[in-house]
Amino acid sequence: MDMSTHNLAVVILAAGKGTRMRSSLPKVMHKVGGVPMLGAVQETSAQLGARTMVVVIGPEMEHVRAYAQKQQPGCAVVVQETQQGTGDAVKYALPALEGFSGTVMVLYGDTPLLELETLKRLQDVLEADAKNAVAVLGFTPEDPAEYGRLVQDDTGALKAIVEYKDADAATRQIRFCNSGVMAFKGDLLPELLAALKNNNAKGEYYLTDCVEHAIAKGYRCQVAESPEDEVLGINSRDQLAEAEALLQKRLRLRAMQNGATLISPETTFLSRDTKLGRDVVIHPFVVIGAGVTIEDEAEIKSYSHLENARVGRGASVGPFARLRPGADVGAEAKIGNFVEIKKATVKRGAKISHLTYIGDAEVGEEANIGAGTVTCNYDGYQKYKTVIGNGAFIGSNSSLVAPVTVGEGAIVGAGSTIRRDVPPHAIAHDQKGQIEKPEAARKFKEEKTKAS
Ligand code: UD1
Ligand code: MG
Repeated sequence: MDMSTHNLAVVILAAGKGTRMRSSLPKVMHKVGGVPMLGAVQETSAQLGARTMVVVIGPEMEHVRAYAQKQQPGCAVVVQETQQGTGDAVKYALPALEGFSGTVMVLYGDTPLLELETLKRLQDVLEADAKNAVAVLGFTPEDPAEYGRLVQDDTGALKAIVEYKDADAATRQIRFCNSGVMAFKGDLLPELLAALKNNNAKGEYYLTDCVEHAIAKGYRCQVAESPEDEVLGINSRDQLAEAEALLQKRLRLRAMQNGATLISPETTFLSRDTKLGRDVVIHPFVVIGAGVTIEDEAEIKSYSHLENARVGRGASVGPFARLRPGADVGAEAKIGNFVEIKKATVKRGAKISHLTYIGDAEVGEEANIGAGTVTCNYDGYQKYKTVIGNGAFIGSNSSLVAPVTVGEGAIVGAGSTIRRDVPPHAIAHDQKGQIEKPEAARKFKEEKTKAS
């Protein structure tokens, strides 16, 4: 058993209002890769093995609390009443960390691209030596701008983090910067935080000052390095878009490495939780929202949109198909153009090839659903279910008024409105008989021609 993973707590700072987003939604609830940023950070923390998780939110962010606790049951959420700096924020997490002596990692809720391996490296650096008190994740940005600068000694150990506003010209020349991610020996954290003062340029309690205090107490501080694109913090909509683009690139690459063919990767949009099997083929211009699983050898053709859906082995979807939440497409099934499936199970080998709505339904194995079939599932108040048996055949342009069952092997004649159950192996249609008036068309046309 890897003990280190059982000794980790994560504190996620998310109290910032995110004014620059110009949004009524708290910043950390904006989505990247189909998942709110906070959820992404929580998920990575859980994968890292964090047993204790504390999210620090600001006042009037109660639905962030609800979201955080739904994502990770047992996650503590604390409110930082006034924002007096990153050090102040972590102080609010201390009661939830009472008695914890493992590693405490501090992450930001608005930095959603961090990878597991990078955080593991930081944890390893801290835990490598009993004399270490703090480890900081550094990076070398193209433009060091106003990031805190990491001051190292000859051995590479960290001497101090100097905030840009407090740095002299020489320190500002340093290009190695603080990403904001820091790891602490949990038993030292309370005393390091207690030592923080706010006599600095911003009048804040800087978490970064823990480094100096640790050194003063005789401990050592270390650095690990991160690629710049993993520590991108989101403050505005354009940074949100930048993060999305970076994440999409990463997700596409991962999908291909795992054996999916993306014919035009730059036009394939995936979610953080998209699961693609081997030999899945995705044609150009496909959007895959949250909660989608596509099994081996399935094919998704152009201009299809999928969310919260499963596509079974060898099935074919699209072009121009829409799989809405609860669509469960069985192996070898075919969903063709302009077909919408919602909360419905389509079993093995069924064919729904054109222009159809299937909602709140079950479609049996090898059933064939003709063009223009509609399950009439809603009466304006409630939803009702349609069940189509194995091997049933629904003629084109039929309306199935739910609740209704078409039995196994039954045939529904084209253009029918089916309001009652159809027994297995029966033929049902609602035709009133075809009316024919001999020669009427010719007379009609003659009259029209005379009149003009
Ligand atoms: C911080 C670091 C800086 C680093 C930079 C990386 C400090 C003192 N400085 O600076 O060294 O280079 O991040 O982006 O830590 N937050 C709270 N409560 C607070 C203050 C902040 O929850 O009272 C949260 C914010 O929502 C944000 C994060 O902490 O997610 C960072 O805060 P921010 O004010 O952006 O810190 P910087 O000044 O950018
Ligand atoms: Mg910042």
